[in-house]
This record gives sequence, C-alpha cells and structure tokens, in this order.
Amino acid sequence: MVALALNGGAPTRRRSFPPWPRYGRAELRGLRGVLRSRQWGTLGPRVAEFERAFASYLGADHCCAVTNGTTSLELILRALDVGPGDEVIVPPYTFIATATAVLSVGAVPVFADVDPATNNLSPAAAEEAVTGRTKAIIPVHIAGVPADMDALVEIGNRTGLPIVEDAAQAHGSEWRNRKLGTIGAAGSFSFQLSKNLSAGEGGAVVTNDPALAARMRSMHHVGRREDGGWYEHHEPGGNYRMTDWQASVLIAQLGRLDRQIAVRERNASVLDAGLREIDGISPFERDARATRVTRHLYMARYDARSFGGLPKERFVAALEAEGIPASTGYVEIQRQPVFAHPSVRRITGNRDYAAAHLPAAERACRETFWIMQNALLGRESDIRDIVTAVRKIRDHYRELL
Ligand SMILES: Cc1ncc(COP(=O)(O)O)c(C=O)c1O
Repeated sequence: MVALALNGGAPTRRRSFPPWPRYGRAELRGLRGVLRSRQWGTLGPRVAEFERAFASYLGADHCCAVTNGTTSLELILRALDVGPGDEVIVPPYTFIATATAVLSVGAVPVFADVDPATNNLSPAAAEEAVTGRTKAIIPVHIAGVPADMDALVEIGNRTGLPIVEDAAQAHGSEWRNRKLGTIGAAGSFSFQLSKNLSAGEGGAVVTNDPALAARMRSMHHVGRREDGGWYEHHEPGGNYRMTDWQASVLIAQLGRLDRQIAVRERNASVLDAGLREIDGISPFERDARATRVTRHLYMARYDARSFGGLPKERFVAALEAEGIPASTGYVEIQRQPVFAHPSVRRITGNRDYAAAHLPAAERACRETFWIMQNALLGRESDIRDIVTAVRKIRDHYRELL
C-alpha cells in the first residue's frame, strides 16, 4: 500500500494554510479614501505619509517610495554614480533583480560566494572580489536572515565602498537591534505580492545620508527638485514614483507587520525544533547578532544522501503533495541565460559567468528548500502538520526511489 500523497496516498493535510496577502477594513478604507481624493498619482499625500511611517518604523532618516524593489536598487546605484566600467559585488543566491539592477545602470555584476551559515554574501569572498573598478557591494538578506553586517560594514569603512543592502525580503528584521536596510549606505525594499509587507507591487529606498536621499528623491521624479519648477530637470532620473493606491495599502499593512513577524518567529522556533529531530533535514542555526528574523521564507537544508539519493526536487514535490506550500528555491543566478545575452556581454566584456565555481552557492542551491511564509502565520497545529509531513516522507522515501 502506498503512503505518500505523491504516489496516490492520503495527504497529511487537506486544509489550506492562512491565505496571503491579508487585508481588512483598514485597506478598504484607505483605498476608498484615495478614490475619493482623486489624487491617484504623482507624489500623493498617502505616499508621503507612508514614507514617514516606514522611515520611522525602520529608524531611518530618509525614505523614498518607488515602483518596485528592482527600480529601488537601480535608483540607489544611479545616485551613487555607478555606471559603465564599474563593478558591483553581489551574491549568487538571490533573486535575479539584484544582479540585473547592476546591468541596468551599465555596470558589471561580480558574483562572490555565500556564507554556508546563512546563504548570504560571505564578507571574506566579497573582499576578495574587490578590484580597482569595484564601486559598491550589495549584500542581500535572504529570507529575512541578516547578512553579517559587522564584517561588511567594516569592509565598507576600510575600502570606502558603499554597502547597499538589498532588504527586499527583510522588512523588520534586525541585526544587533538595528533594522536591516538602515545599516549600510542605503537600503532597498520590495513590496511585491509575496513579500511580508506588500501592495502587490512597490518598493522603497532608505538612507541616513541627506545628500544621497536628495539625489534619489530627485532622480525618482524625473530629475525634479523640491524647490525647482515643474519643467526643470536636474538629474538624469526617471519616473519611479509610487502611487497613493499602493501607499494606502502599505500604511494599513505596516500596522499588521509586527504582529505577523511575532507569529512567524514563534512558529519558526517550533518548526526548527521539530525538523531538527528528522535525519537529513537541518534548519539553519541563528546568529545571536540576528536579533529579529522575520522569515520571509523558512529555509532548511535537505541532505539527499539521507534519503537514499532522492533528489531535492522530488522531496519538495512530495512535500507539496502532502499539502505543504514549499519550493526548491533559487538556482545559481550567474548560470542564468541572461548573462550570455549579446546585450549583456557588451556590458560585461564577454565575462564567462557560467564558468565561475562558487561552491557554497552551489551547495545552497543543491540543498536548501523553502516553506512559504504564509504557512508560518497559522497555529502551532499547522506547524505540527509540516513536521508530520516531512517525517512521513522520511519514513517512506523508498516509495519514490
Ligand atoms: C532579494 C530580492 N531583490 C530584489 C527583488 C526585486 O523586487 P521587485 O519584485 O519588487 O522588483 C526581490 C523580489 O522580488 C528580491 O527577493
């Protein structure tokens, strides 16, 4: 008799997990207010309100809301004068936008390996990748887990290179009680649908540097200046402006964020403890300096050898069949076809990205799987279902070989 749902057995769970995104009366009230205000675009009052609220939440001096978490990275790089001929160091275990934002400003992304403890940019590897052409370093706080900001800031101070935090997945996460995105020269956020703070699409940049803030504000508004005329353009910018629709939803969502983070953190500890008991599954250890980890995703390692060589893809498919929202996660981005595209090769000088050997990133992609964040928003009994499903696959994996 088959046990596993992937083979036609009964799934561990038929009930769905809490839906994502969540909304309520606050979002409805906000959207209705924008509709009635007729201020549907261009620097509306709700955008300004959200910028103040998000800056205050993070403890940042300046925030500028933008269209998404890709243009936010581009805006920071442009405002830092990163351009053709420059190199920017990025990790390979991330969403493609971290690297393509660099290409968008005409600069060359240089991949440095990750730290196996977090899957985030290794400070030692980043430092090794620095050349005379390096203009910035972009650590990414994957899954809301902080990169080692002590070491990265120290490298930034020593080399004079700005550390640009890609905090697209880390709204509210903390390193030594400071919110991510506010520790480096600038931070970039995404409010795309899956994110823990979302308006479907949207982004923001934050910084404590007033000159950089002014430049980004002007550039996101086609180079206008606050004290200048409407048809007066000072910076080579674009239209990166957020709308009041997005801002009104984000203001409401921000009011829910801390409660949701607390639930995810509590459930993640329960999941850590449960999965640690299962051979071949290893939750990541938490760095004591990571004082708050928001769990945009729940990451754990899968060791195929303990499952008779069952590929991670089959394990994750089995987990999904058991009713658990899971993903195999990233593949190494430097192997994506985009880096062989003729237009990209013109920028990178025919750099052979596919030839790069980054062993920790290879391991991260081979072993790491994700449980989606909404699964952590429910009750402890939901978490027990996840553990039960993983244990069931562990007990019956031979059915899949
Ligand atoms: C790490 C990272 N960087 C950048 C982005 C780009 O954000 P967006 O999809 O809002 O453009 C995302 C999200 O999709 C991301 O996860």
